[in-house]
Amino acid sequence: MMHTILVMPEGSLGEGQAKQFNFGPRKGIIYNDAGILKAYENACTHMGGTTDLQGDVLHCRMHHAEFDPCTGARLCGQAPEGSYLPPLEIKIENGNVFVLWEMFDAFA
Ligand code: FES
Repeated sequence: MMHTILVMPEGSLGEGQAKQFNFGPRKGIIYNDAGILKAYENACTHMGGTTDLQGDVLHCRMHHAEFDPCTGARLCGQAPEGSYLPPLEIKIENGNVFVLWEMFDAFA
């Protein structure tokens, strides 16, 4: 079942900035890449640590892997080479930014 999660008002995140958000029990991070929003599940591909923007990289707080905020690609550290932060689909509607999250519903 697809869920729509409100993240923030449109235009509230400046270029080169990132914002963390929660969706259900999980965490996400959204980044403004020169006017194009990119969103990822904020779960490091090593052991699921949370990242935050430090300079121009997403930095894992747990063991310090780094990811490209424009693509989600792992840049260095203990996260596996070739791995990516899982991308989240974005929808902009009525002046708000949402992410779409596919969630298994045992009762559907
Ligand atoms: S959990 Fe991110 S580097 Fe280990």
